[in-house]
Amino acid sequence: MVLTRYMLPVLAAAGAALAQCEGPINIQHQGDAEAIAECSIIEGDVLIGSSVSGTLAIDGVEEITGDLTCVNATQLTSLSANNLATIGGKFELEELQILSTLAFDSLTEVLTIQWIALPALQSLTFNRGVSTVTNILVSNTGLTSLNGLELETVGLMDINNNRYLDTVDVNNMRIVNTSISFAANSRTLEIKLPNLQQAANMTFRNVSDVQVPSLSYVNGSIGFYSNTFESISLPNLTETGQALVFQDNMGLSNISVPQIIQIGAALNINNNPDLLVIDGFPALETVVGALDFSGVFDEVNLPALSDARGGFNMQTTSSTFTCDGFDDLRDRDIVKGVYTCAGSQETPGGLGTNADSSGNNSRSAAPTTFNPDMPTYSVFGLIAFLFML
Ligand SMILES: *[C@@H]1O[C@H](CO)[C@@H](O)[C@H](O)[C@H]1NC(C)=O
Ligand SMILES: *[C@@H]1O[C@H](CO)[C@@H](O)[C@H](O)[C@H]1NC(C)=O
Ligand SMILES: *[C@@H]1O[C@H](CO)[C@@H](O)[C@H](O)[C@H]1NC(C)=O
Ligand SMILES: *[C@@H]1O[C@H](CO)[C@@H](O)[C@H](O)[C@H]1NC(C)=O
Ligand SMILES: *[C@@H]1O[C@H](CO)[C@@H](O)[C@H](O)[C@H]1NC(C)=O
Ligand SMILES: *[C@@H]1O[C@H](CO)[C@@H](O)[C@H](O)[C@H]1NC(C)=O
Ligand SMILES: *[C@@H]1O[C@H](CO)[C@@H](O)[C@H](O)[C@H]1NC(C)=O
Ligand SMILES: *[C@@H]1O[C@H](CO)[C@@H](O)[C@H](O)[C@H]1NC(C)=O
Repeated sequence: MVLTRYMLPVLAAAGAALAQCEGPINIQHQGDAEAIAECSIIEGDVLIGSSVSGTLAIDGVEEITGDLTCVNATQLTSLSANNLATIGGKFELEELQILSTLAFDSLTEVLTIQWIALPALQSLTFNRGVSTVTNILVSNTGLTSLNGLELETVGLMDINNNRYLDTVDVNNMRIVNTSISFAANSRTLEIKLPNLQQAANMTFRNVSDVQVPSLSYVNGSIGFYSNTFESISLPNLTETGQALVFQDNMGLSNISVPQIIQIGAALNINNNPDLLVIDGFPALETVVGALDFSGVFDEVNLPALSDARGGFNMQTTSSTFTCDGFDDLRDRDIVKGVYTCAGSQETPGGLGTNADSSGNNSRSAAPTTFNPDMPTYSVFGLIAFLFML
């Protein structure tokens, strides 16, 4: 009796001492996971072997300072780690064909998430939710939402080819330091980032709705390509450091960016076949790069434009489109770069292409190579000036 009373704690202590808590730890079956249950911290990496099958639970461990990796375990159905709060390195899951449960109830902090080819994974069981992650790549999973990733700041975020992903609603996200990109997920993907204020680069492809009501500053570029929404609104955006792009959006008929004052590189609006009126930039004063619009639009209004430093290209199929207002901007040297403006174009081209001169209102200067960052002197302004002499 006396012996057991003292022996139990001694044995437990001996067990802890014997447990290997230094990585790399290789887990080939549940027994290997149990052998590290007493390690609250694993110094180094934990590798889950490709032969692990069925259910694997890594309980007890609270922190892994290195990576947690599981690649090619095609028979693994469930992976859990109830106590794990921090992964200091990469959380890498790849090619886990039948993994359907991912339960990390305490996880809040990960350096990098890289999840690729997890077709059976439809949701995350992350009770606390990951709030801190620097880089995140989620590609080719069965996830229908990103619930469980309650990110506040994120560095690089790339979400692509998740064919069932139809909702992304990250309420806490305020800052994207590097870039955020969505492509080829469900065609009905709706993205809501209600509190996102600042981002570096942002790219949206193949999405059906984007709501970023608080976004006020984009350090790099923001681009919308091949989306299905009819309307896009960036109500609080005042400035971009680089380009602003709307391209190949088949149903888009309304662009609204009411507060933008300055675009740090090009403003591109190309090949949006339902966009007939471009009047969503009432406050836009400065475009540091090119203004490049091509499509079917009848009308373009840029009432506040006072400084367009790069090339200028406006080509549309519309025969009612008039270049008069833009000729005036060019004559007043507000538009400083190489100038092309033309309606009635059979195939409206982008910046650097020649307009078909038989079209209505065609005015075009020979395209030259130019650097959008370097203001080029207006040839027409110069000619107009010479004629006035
Ligand atoms: C996973 O499988 C692929 C192809 O079956 C192989 O090329 C790759 O080396 C494997 N990776 C690991 C870590 O086992
Ligand atoms: C984002 O940048 C801020 C300021 O530079 C920094 O404090 C923060 O750790 C960064 N966050 C991420 C996730 O990179
Ligand atoms: C997504 O958009 C790209 C062009 O940006 C297009 O080539 C591709 O077919 C689209 N994919 C889907 C799944 O809609
Ligand atoms: C828009 O920006 C203003 C000024 O920065 C800010 O006060 C306001 O809360 C923002 N609106 C939203 C919806 O975030
Ligand atoms: C924008 O990004 C560049 C390069 O990443 C950085 O040098 C600059 O400080 C950033 N500006 C702001 C206002 O965040
Ligand atoms: C945005 O992306 C472009 C092209 O990849 C890159 O040159 C630029 O530095 C990025 N800007 C920021 C602020 O990250
Ligand atoms: C375009 O969208 C803006 C913002 O959502 C809205 O205020 C405006 O009425 C819309 N314009 C048209 C013509 O639908
Ligand atoms: C040019 O516009 C006028 C009306 O503004 C129209 O009658 C004429 O057919 C147009 N010409 C071409 C080549 O589209």
